[in-house]
Amino acid sequence: MPASAAGFRLATRLDEVGFSDIVQIRNRVMELRARGATVYQFEGGEPYRSTPDYVKEAVNSALRENKTRYAPSSGIPELRRAIADKLRDRNRIAASEENVIVVNGGMQGLFGAFQSVVNPGDDVLIFSPYWTPIKDLVAHCRGRLILVPTDEARADGFRETLNRYSTEQTRAIYFNTPANPSGVVFTRSETEEVARFAIDRDLIVVADEAYEDIVYEGEHVSIASLDGMLARTITTFTLSKSFAMTGWRIGYAVATEPWMTGLSKTTLYSSNGVSTPTQWAALAAFTTASDFLETSRVAYRERRDLLLAGLNELGLTCALPAGAFYAFPDVTSVSRDSREAAELLLSRAQVATVPGVVFGPQGEGRVRFSFSTSIETIKAGLESMRRNL
Ligand SMILES: Cc1ncc(COP(=O)(O)O)c(C=O)c1O
Repeated sequence: MPASAAGFRLATRLDEVGFSDIVQIRNRVMELRARGATVYQFEGGEPYRSTPDYVKEAVNSALRENKTRYAPSSGIPELRRAIADKLRDRNRIAASEENVIVVNGGMQGLFGAFQSVVNPGDDVLIFSPYWTPIKDLVAHCRGRLILVPTDEARADGFRETLNRYSTEQTRAIYFNTPANPSGVVFTRSETEEVARFAIDRDLIVVADEAYEDIVYEGEHVSIASLDGMLARTITTFTLSKSFAMTGWRIGYAVATEPWMTGLSKTTLYSSNGVSTPTQWAALAAFTTASDFLETSRVAYRERRDLLLAGLNELGLTCALPAGAFYAFPDVTSVSRDSREAAELLLSRAQVATVPGVVFGPQGEGRVRFSFSTSIETIKAGLESMRRNL
């Protein structure tokens, strides 16, 4: 059979789903490095530390003990129990084992969450600037993202602002705290306002708490812990950032019915669960006494303070990120166009960042620096900007 133009066409549900701009930046950095240039890399999004040894040892033990067969697609019971304990103790979410599903990282949890909630034509409210892949996850559901400027909500009040932006078609709110890229940690009273709005308008919340363990100022509040919210919230978590396990691909989601059925179906028919040895490693992450989370937080704080002081001194003014490991300074003194600013930072100072506009129009005029890197890289990158900008 000859290939026909009509037949060789990607299914339309993927039409609006894009690829990350960040990949293009990574390619540009690799190209420069291949030419022998030194590049100070601030564009990444992962912990600079290695996975703790006790987690690595646990995967070795699992392999030695032949724990290599199919597991239940929602996760091994031991891990789901340990996660439910953690959710009750640390997040104050009244979850039991049946409310927990183990997934391949935050991304699979978010994929399942939006697939479970959003119908074609539905609107999803999102505070902006926002983590870009959400646009594509919602597009895959044929939903529409409505950007709610975080600054506006903080100035005018959350309920008033959400009310102003929501429509008849609004079905859900994506709520990311601590937030990527801004480092905003929503306060308890802000979170309560969002919850009250969701209850009043009968909306579902997709909560993304990927950076829950990286908070410097204030407290991390899980929206699902607030009165009446567990039933209308799907919360996604990941071991990627907390335990420096980005490449392991493991996370979890907590939800009640009917959402758990949706998460179970999307997981079953996409990956049929998470690799069994990886789940045993994750169990060790939750059950081993260790100061890994605390020492990471201290190390990130030191890096944050160093980078922030340097950026502000350079006139790249930046609000202090209360959580996560990103700084999101104003770079309009370099260029008002954030793509051009990022290109100038790279070509003049060999400093790689992500243009703010990638994170929505509210990010224009800014670039994202990750301070999850060595102290030496931060010092050298700042010095290079001082000399070359
Ligand atoms: C806000 C946010 N949510 C979720 C994730 C998902 O991470 P993973 O799929 O590695 O768990 C990330 C990763 O960068 C993130 O920044």
